[in-house]
Amino acid sequence: PSLDEIVNLHDFEAVAKAILPAKAWAYYSSASDDEITIRENRAAYQRIWFRPRVLRDVSTVDWSTTILGQKSSLPVYISATALGKLGHPDGELNLTRAAGKHGVIQMIPTLASCSFDEIVDAAVPGQVQFLQLYVNRDREITKRYVQHAEKRGVKGLFITVDAPQLGRREKDMRMKFVDESGVAKVQENQDGVKKDEGVARAISSFIDPSLSWKDIPWFKSITNMPIILKGVATPQDALMAYDHGVAGIVLSNHGGRQLDTARSGIENLIEVVEALKTRGPWPNPKFEVFVDGGVRRASDVLKAIALGAKAVGVGRAFMYSFCAYGQEGVEKAFQIFRDELQMNMRLIGARTIDELTPDMVDASAIHSH
Ligand code: FNR
Repeated sequence: PSLDEIVNLHDFEAVAKAILPAKAWAYYSSASDDEITIRENRAAYQRIWFRPRVLRDVSTVDWSTTILGQKSSLPVYISATALGKLGHPDGELNLTRAAGKHGVIQMIPTLASCSFDEIVDAAVPGQVQFLQLYVNRDREITKRYVQHAEKRGVKGLFITVDAPQLGRREKDMRMKFVDESGVAKVQENQDGVKKDEGVARAISSFIDPSLSWKDIPWFKSITNMPIILKGVATPQDALMAYDHGVAGIVLSNHGGRQLDTARSGIENLIEVVEALKTRGPWPNPKFEVFVDGGVRRASDVLKAIALGAKAVGVGRAFMYSFCAYGQEGVEKAFQIFRDELQMNMRLIGARTIDELTPDMVDASAIHSH
């Protein structure tokens, strides 16, 4: 279909499935084990209902916000998804270019198929980019990478903490590893590549499973970028993160690709915010909470924000948007978010992001422990 025929973000997924080589589709779409968590990521949003307010003069609505102090035209950022070139020859640059044009923040993956510098070079002046970090067993490599990113102007360091070992994405594992554009590039720097277990395992063997809370002070000593822990799932760890002095957390289950039957980020948000309120008034300017997983609609975004998230990360929907249409597909995805945000904010009765409050949603079907 032509881009004009794309009406919502689900459409991009259907198109990607139809046009991608089987191996790329397997890598992008797969989740771990029985793929229960990936389904739950969508289902959890459907258990939350709106309680809209009326008669609030919603002639103008504004969904712009700040993320870690950086301006963002959407309350959504592009989360890190590895191996963009499996989907399109320009890979992650499709995201960078669209994001630069529309004031959206991109999180650059450690395992991007384009090099880090290519992605930074493709940004326009003032464009905000974050870095997703997989911590290498060789900390010198990590230190150089982080400090290089800071020097190149990256504004936030998202350390992935939910992947000491990669989940078993069985769809992906069934596709025997065959060298292909994008994969080769990422492999260059990594050793111990296993060639018979799917793309994900082949590229990730450098990740350090010994990473622990004791390493956090070291990260703080090597960079001035705000540090965010990506992949937190419990109030206990949210408080640990807060007490270790990091700038925030992403409540995430890695798009269902790590621990299967882990709860969804949106479901965990409520009890995490409750716990963080014991450390001071909420929202807390010193600590931001993000959510990702299963976001396909502006209504999902608004639910997360109403429940206390600062912004929401989107992985697959943006990735699928460039597979067939390149940069233009990503721009269309932003447009869809804008259209849906405008309509939903008017119908909810929120003129700004700050006007989204917990009483505007009924999350009683989400159990808290
Ligand atoms: C990811 N994600 C991810 N996260 C991360 O920290 N490092 C990575 O390299 C990747 N790579 C990656 C590849 C692919 C194909 C997917 C789908 C996801 C997880 C990503 O950042 C985010 O947490 C999820 O994608 C959010 O869920 P949705 O939006 O895909 O449902």
